Amino acid sequence: MTIGVFDSGVGGLTVLSALRKAFPRADLLYLGDTARVPYGSRSAETVARYATDCARWLLDRGCEQLVIACNTASAYGSEAVVELAKGRPVYGVVRAGAQAAQRGGGTSGVAVLATRGTVASAAYHRALHAVAPETSVRQVACPLLAPMIEEGWYDHPAIHAAVETYLAELDGFDYDRLILGCTHYPLIHDLLQRHVGQTVTVIDSSDAVAAMIPPETVPERAGHCRLAFSDSPELSMPIVERIFTQPIHAVERMSWDAASS
Ligand code: DGL
Repeated sequence: MTIGVFDSGVGGLTVLSALRKAFPRADLLYLGDTARVPYGSRSAETVARYATDCARWLLDRGCEQLVIACNTASAYGSEAVVELAKGRPVYGVVRAGAQAAQRGGGTSGVAVLATRGTVASAAYHRALHAVAPETSVRQVACPLLAPMIEEGWYDHPAIHAAVETYLAELDGFDYDRLILGCTHYPLIHDLLQRHVGQTVTVIDSSDAVAAMIPPETVPERAGHCRLAFSDSPELSMPIVERIFTQPIHAVERMSWDAASS
């Protein structure tokens, strides 16, 4: 039994890392839709369609559980993916992150940093309010962070400036929890923590989604980790190797043309 994980590109490897740590003996198949990245600036309809394409591809390869690692896909595509999965478990980063933020309680609001699409969907808002309807929530779209992180600028002056500019949108908002609502942000967890200060709990949706899967539903197998990309894997490998430092057992290129024929 393989766990299928998908994302718009390479950012979801932060989720794959969290899954590998939580379930070192599980077989994992990751699909990064690098031919159609980014999802964060696309319409709801397009993202939902892309998400179902990814889910179908993984289900066709025998995956028995799905993890939607991409926040934007989780925001717009969860319902369609759940329907497609026909009762197989589907875990999404948005619900996982929201539940983790609410679990410890908190005395003030929740801030969410995410892509434009995730912010526009208000999915974190809904997921946070589903647990505690009174929670005050403020979201900030941070479109420049993901490209900078892909450049490896984890501590570059430019990313500090961008973070400061985005966090200024939270001035006057009283919050004690900050959700990393984009696959890439766990890679700058420490930088964000430094900017918001120790009084704010930074919540990593990738750890949260791994924690959401009941361990008894994950059989121990060979612990193989396979990656597939919809564009040339060679283009992604430098970033992949920087983000994902655990053993990779196979890398393949998949094609949407072949998948739909
Ligand atoms: N994976 C996306 C997310 O978590 C970020 C990159 C993109 O825009 O596709 O929302």
